[in-house]
Parts: sequence; C-alpha cells; structure tokens
Amino acid sequence: MIPFLDLKTQHRRIRPKLDAALARVIDSGQFVLGQEVSAFEERFAAYCDTKHCIAVNSGTSALHLALLAAGIGPGDEVITVSMTFVATTAAILYCGAKPIYVDVDRDTWTMDPKLIEKAITSKTKAILPVHLHGLMADMDPIVEIARRHKLMVIEDAAQSHGAEYKGRRAGSIGDAGCFSFYPGKNLGALGEGGAVVSSNRELARRVALLRDWGQESKYHHVLAGYNYRMDGVQGAVLNVKMDYIEEWTKGRRAVASEYDRLITFEQCKRPAPPSDFRHVYHVYAIEVDRRDHVQKMLHAAGIGTGIHYPIPVHLQKAYSDLRYCQGDLPVTEELADRFLSLPIYAEFQPAQMAQVVEALAEAVPSMAI
Ligand SMILES: Cc1ncc(COP(=O)(O)O)c(C=O)c1O
Repeated sequence: MIPFLDLKTQHRRIRPKLDAALARVIDSGQFVLGQEVSAFEERFAAYCDTKHCIAVNSGTSALHLALLAAGIGPGDEVITVSMTFVATTAAILYCGAKPIYVDVDRDTWTMDPKLIEKAITSKTKAILPVHLHGLMADMDPIVEIARRHKLMVIEDAAQSHGAEYKGRRAGSIGDAGCFSFYPGKNLGALGEGGAVVSSNRELARRVALLRDWGQESKYHHVLAGYNYRMDGVQGAVLNVKMDYIEEWTKGRRAVASEYDRLITFEQCKRPAPPSDFRHVYHVYAIEVDRRDHVQKMLHAAGIGTGIHYPIPVHLQKAYSDLRYCQGDLPVTEELADRFLSLPIYAEFQPAQMAQVVEALAEAVPSMAI
C-alpha cells in the first residue's frame, strides 16, 4: 500500500523533539497562547516575510478574522474562486458578506485576473485569491486591480506555506495572508491550527484582539471577538516543525519534479509554473480523462489518491442559496471532473514513485512508460 499521506513516517523521525515539546507545555501550564505560541508567531512571520503573525485555532478562523479586520461586513461582496475548499466561502459568509466567484485560469488553475474587473460592483470590498495546491495565484494583476478600485486583498494561503511569486512569499503580497496548520498541511499541527500574517500593523492588531474575545486586557473587551486562540501544544509542535519546513518543501519539490519527468505533459496535464513561481506541492494533481476510473484502478493497485476538489463550492448543496448553476464557471467545473491528486510527501521513496507511475500507465490508456 502506498498511502496518499504519510504523517507517521514524518512524526517517527522527529518524535523525541515532539515529546520534549509536549512535556514543556505540560510543565509550563501555558495551554492557551503563551510563550510557545509567541515564539512560533515570530518565526512564522519571518518565514513569510511579514511583520506580524497572529496564531489562531484553524485556517478557517484565520480567514474569518482577516476579513473582519479588513472591514468586511454585511452587504459587502468579496471576489473569490469556487475551485477551493469550502472554508474560503464559509469565512466570507461568516462576516455576513457575499462571495462572488470568478473562474480560474485553464493553465494555472488559480483565479483568472482577466475576469475580476467584470465582477466588481459598488458593493465589492475585497479580493480573496486562493493559492491552490501550493501554487500562488497571479498576484501582480490582482493587486493592481485591487489598488485601482480601493479593494483589500486577502490571500488564502492555507495550502501554500513557503510558496513564492516572483521572489515574494505567500501571505506577504496582499493586505493579509491566511494559513492552515491542519495536520496534513505542509506545516501541520497535531490538531487544528491557523495563522494570519500581515505587515499592516492595525489589521494585525485587530486580528489579535478578535481571536481573544476582543480583550485589550483581561476582562476589558473593546471588540466583539471570538475564542479563536491557538493552543500552547500546537505552538510547541509547530515550533519543532519549523526546523524542517524548508527541508520538507525541498523534498516535495524533488518528488514533484520526478513525477514531472516520468509523466509527460501530453499524457496528463498539470500547471507548468513559471520559473519565478515556487510551487510547494501541497498537492500534486494531474488532469486525466475518465478520472473516476483511473482513481479506481490506482486504488486497486494499492495506491492512495485524492481529489481536490470533486464538487466546486458554487455547486455544493450547502451554498445553493448563492444561486449559482452548472455552467456558470466552466473551467472550474471541467477541472473538478478531471483532477486527480497523487501521493506526495518529503519521505516518498523512489520505489514508491516507480509503483505509482507504473499503475498510472496501466490506468491511463494513452500513457506509456
Ligand atoms: C484553501 C483552503 N482554505 C481554507 C482552509 C481551512 O483551513 P482549516 O481546515 O485549518 O480550517 C483549507 C483547509 O483545508 C484550505 O485548503
């Protein structure tokens, strides 16, 4: 069996450090926020090349608070994509605002900047691009349009720790960037976790207040906030993992480039990131005909795969009130039928790679090795 995700191998290697970190938290009694979380915030802000990092209890909370701190509220519209996890849309709705979807680019699978201006109305307040699978959206035109129309830009970087766009880190280009540390992410906690990064001091201050009941000091509430604080345990675990994030990212990129070499573009399409983009391959997805059949064959061969995501958000039953229909976002809908995610992690072995590629060649009739 080749699992789609293998956290056990990662954790086996760093287990003594994780055990020591957990013991430190138990001994300190700092179970919510505290020194470990502050130390992590400092390191993660530096890693993202931003002045501030506010650690919270999930990527969804990070998006929710970044939008609130950016002034998004009832009646506002936020331009985003439907080719993402539902949390992107949910966070907009939590603010009482409305998501307005634009389609993704056929080649990069991220927000198509050419479609943004047509979607802007007098109610538009922000643009929320998603750096899908670890590849950043085309930020220069997005930011240029946003500045021209006085809109905020919040990056959904939940899948893109350490990704780069023309030398700039994910989370550092917009007004704020939002990360998830869900266990399977490139930087994963031992439970839920998330963070907002920003170089805007006032925005960061508001996020920090909002995550902790809006308290300026104990029992002095200046904003109506939330209980979105990060646990001490997650801060300690993430501090340990920060020592490895670059090594693991390089490992993922090496696995991806081996897939790229063995699976030709004609056989299975995937984005070809320009050389000045650093894709961090949270997901290595390919496009295939008869995807469900190919996935079944790979599973029969003992290979775990995923689909990110099979039903775009605008066609999910939960969000039918938004009144989008099949055909509204043709590229997103086509890709949702064709995406297949292959196993990828830093510890992936050459023998496992050979097995995946061989099984794929059997499942995809046009593919020969
Ligand atoms: C693109 C995207 N946005 C937001 C989230 C939400 O993060 P979390 O699960 O930590 O709340 C995720 C997590 O899967 C995600 O992939």
